[in-house]
Amino acid sequence: LHTVNRFLESRLVFESKIEIESNPETKNRNRIVTFSESINVLPNLLFYGPPGTGKTSTILAAARELYGPHLYRQRVLELNASDERGIQVVREKVKNFAQLTVAGTRPDGKLCPPFKIIILDEADSMTAPAQAALRRTMEKESRTTRFCLICNYISRIIEPLTSRCSKFRFKPLANQIQEERLLEICEKENLKYTKESIAELVRVSEGDLRKAITFLQSAARLNVDKEITERAVLEIAGVVPPKMIDHLLQICFTGTFEKLEVAVRNMVNEGYAATQILSQLHESIIEQDLSDKQKSAITENMAVVSKCLSDGADEYLQMLSLCSVIMQHASQNN
Ligand SMILES: Nc1ncnc2c1ncn2[C@@H]1O[C@H](COP(=O)(O)OP(=O)(O)OP(=O)(O)O)[C@@H](O)[C@H]1O
Ligand SMILES: [Mg+2]
Repeated sequence: LHTVNRFLESRLVFESKIEIESNPETKNRNRIVTFSESINVLPNLLFYGPPGTGKTSTILAAARELYGPHLYRQRVLELNASDERGIQVVREKVKNFAQLTVAGTRPDGKLCPPFKIIILDEADSMTAPAQAALRRTMEKESRTTRFCLICNYISRIIEPLTSRCSKFRFKPLANQIQEERLLEICEKENLKYTKESIAELVRVSEGDLRKAITFLQSAARLNVDKEITERAVLEIAGVVPPKMIDHLLQICFTGTFEKLEVAVRNMVNEGYAATQILSQLHESIIEQDLSDKQKSAITENMAVVSKCLSDGADEYLQMLSLCSVIMQHASQNN
């Protein structure tokens, strides 16, 4: 939100017609722009970044702000991965919508931008031919239509499209913003909470506010008296107890392969996700008393394991493989 505002502010130099209204960093109010005169400065947009960082919310809030509730339906076409977005749809639905011309005033007499917005959410799931079909439409209809592409992985958007858009990267949300939002929800829902539990929620969700909110909801459901405790949060997030990670590393450093096998099997049988174990192991390896060379060799192997896991490899074997690599490097003292 902030970057969009900054971008629009920088545009003020050319067209001093947009008013920036609020600062979303301090107040979570999603007001972005008010148009005082008909303007034509909004470029095609491309939002990208990790999940739950407010991409969809930003453009929906902006569109609502621009058009108001009545015009919204006419002016905004929102398509996401749940809609058919093959080449046929781009050729027909998107193109037809883009070709309509629109006026620069609302029925209530207020001014509004003289263009429509087509939001293509989760654009990274569109096929390359469908993306290619957008290229010409985007250029030809630039007088009447703005596109907003949203995706998690910008590398999956073909280059001709990225070059037609202004790119905005959404960072994982800052802890403070997340905390404020969670506290607001707690107040409104009359939840009992401790400062530590909220901090823990923010920590385990790693900048993904949607995840934090979902965890909060589950934690509230889990406890009958609607109390959010640190323990409940850890349990829901599936965080491996730090003691277990320490124990595993201790075996890697001093134990035998047989012991290691038992420990890894236990962990997987307890139901902890391998990706979670991996990320926690990563955190604690960095802090261990190992040489840089050892650490880099181990983390390199972690990257390989992570890739295998996301490709659907066996959790137990991958964990065992990683731990034996740690064992091997830790025993070489250089
Ligand atoms: N800056 C923010 N201030 C307050 N709430 C926010 C902010 N950013 C995101 N949220 C909240 O986080 C949740 C997820 O946001 P949103 O759906 O926009 O994420 P997204 O970036 O589109 O994620 P995805 O890539 O998974 O589609 C929403 O409930 C929204 O209310
Ligand atoms: Mg989204």
